Amino acid sequence: MIITVAHSKGGVGKSLLAWHLAIGLNVPIVDLDFQKTLVYTNNLRKANGHKNLDIIQPESPEAFIELMDNWPENKNIIIDVGGFDSNLNRAAIYISDIIITPAVDRVTEMAGLYKFHQIIEELSTKMKTDIKADILLNDVSPTSRDFSVMIDLVDSLPHFRLMKTIIAHRADFYKTMEEGKGVTELEGDSKAKQELKQLIKEIKKRG
Ligand SMILES: Nc1ncnc2c1ncn2[C@@H]1O[C@H](COP(=O)(O)OP(=O)(O)O)[C@@H](O)[C@H]1O
Ligand SMILES: [Mg+2]
Repeated sequence: MIITVAHSKGGVGKSLLAWHLAIGLNVPIVDLDFQKTLVYTNNLRKANGHKNLDIIQPESPEAFIELMDNWPENKNIIIDVGGFDSNLNRAAIYISDIIITPAVDRVTEMAGLYKFHQIIEELSTKMKTDIKADILLNDVSPTSRDFSVMIDLVDSLPHFRLMKTIIAHRADFYKTMEEGKGVTELEGDSKAKQELKQLIKEIKKRG
């Protein structure tokens, strides 16, 4: 199963979620972002004495397509897409089994979601298929309870569906990354760990 974390906008938590998911699922990641957030974090992981993740950086769009074409059905992989629109990023969206789109529940974020929806619509028309992205509320205030604005927005956009899991803004997500770790590797109770496990459960159910 190819799980892609994608949004045409940067700064929404794609790399952060891709990282924690790859550790939680114990699977490789393809890093398509020129910012190379994950390569950097993996170096921190090595420096802290943990077994490093398998991060794949394809040399060319052709190399990426070939890798994905031959990817075994029964093996999982995570793709971290760059926060911009490109043919490579569109290819990643097209070949994915699951597209997770992190979105913050702020009115100012809505234009970005519309734009990403438009990209998926164009791609669906071009490829004659109905691509769906799973919108994941991420980085929301831990005290927020009312997501009706986002629910209505996602309802109105045919290529989007809202995930049940909600990921809050939690220091554990970035503090663990600063040590090259994943939240699932934290000992004891952590809300971030609980939320990520919930996300993994929901993804597995989708697959
Ligand atoms: N759930 C979260 N809790 C805390 N910080 C978060 C969360 N999601 C994202 N962030 C922070 O937001 C910033 C952008 O995240 P990043 O994964 O780099 O976004 P993208 O890959 O979409 O550009 C980072 O500083 C990251 O640590
Ligand atoms: Mg990123």
